[in-house]
Amino acid sequence: MACSEADYAYLREVVRLQSANLIDPSRNALFDTRLAPVARLAGVSNLEGLVSLLKEDRPAHLQRAVAEAMTINETSFFRDPKTFAMLSEEILPRLIEERAGAKRLRIWSAASSTGQEAYSVAMTLAEKFPGLAGWDVKVVGTDISRQVVEYAKSARYRRLEVNRGLPARMLVKYFERHEEEWEVCARVRQMCEFHVVNLCAPLPKLPVFDLVLLRNVLLYFPQQDRRTVFGQVHQQVARDGYLMLGNAEQAEDSTNLFEVEFAAQCYYYRPVVKR
Ligand SMILES: C[S@@+](CC[C@H](N)C(=O)[O-])C[C@H]1O[C@@H](n2cnc3c(N)ncnc32)[C@H](O)[C@@H]1O
Repeated sequence: MACSEADYAYLREVVRLQSANLIDPSRNALFDTRLAPVARLAGVSNLEGLVSLLKEDRPAHLQRAVAEAMTINETSFFRDPKTFAMLSEEILPRLIEERAGAKRLRIWSAASSTGQEAYSVAMTLAEKFPGLAGWDVKVVGTDISRQVVEYAKSARYRRLEVNRGLPARMLVKYFERHEEEWEVCARVRQMCEFHVVNLCAPLPKLPVFDLVLLRNVLLYFPQQDRRTVFGQVHQQVARDGYLMLGNAEQAEDSTNLFEVEFAAQCYYYRPVVKR
């Protein structure tokens, strides 16, 4: 399925423009495997043909399909245990105390992939904070890829997925087995919803969130797009809300929007409130 360096460069640019994701030239082979099905569906037999189609009249749906196919959707339940410890021991207790009047909590898993992050937060709420029964709680998962959003909505996971990061006790308590798959139980599913959202495009109408998880996605973006995303997230997070990034990520290019705090061996961010 290989193509010329110029064609790979063209595909890299399509991906960058559509999703802000930077694909390193050392990863050309990823185009070969990921775009083979896209090419087939478009009725061409190789990447060269796909690039020609893309160049002909730049069909928006095909550019989008290319960008979606190239997303890295790696995720797992309770990814980075320190982050989840910090959530359940520090941030959620504080938020719950502060929101006790309104009894309303909005949490955003802003690059939710196949949903494990959002369901892990919802399970944490169900497990550690039984006092939330009767509250209006929503965990909103969003991702640019329609395929992973549909997967997240299905709430069904394979053995390999539930074996990664999910304590056996939580599997038994919060999932129902359907032959070779496990489905998230209704109580946790009801807390979660999933939508297609491109973080680098103007955002659709979303609630103001008390807590935003923006983890393991910024590392694929160039600096300019990271700044755009921080700007958009700043608009969506409550003035006294919280932002969590992935372990390898920092808000260094947006320190005027967020300030870093440290607790329980973990960094998190608070929005800077402009006066
Ligand atoms: C590596 S996964 C991280 C999933 C989860 N947050 C975690 O930490 O496990 C990155 C996700 O970001 C999504 N993504 C990439 N570019 C995006 C964009 N421009 N807007 C929204 N989501 C994007 C990908 O589709 C992918 O599912």
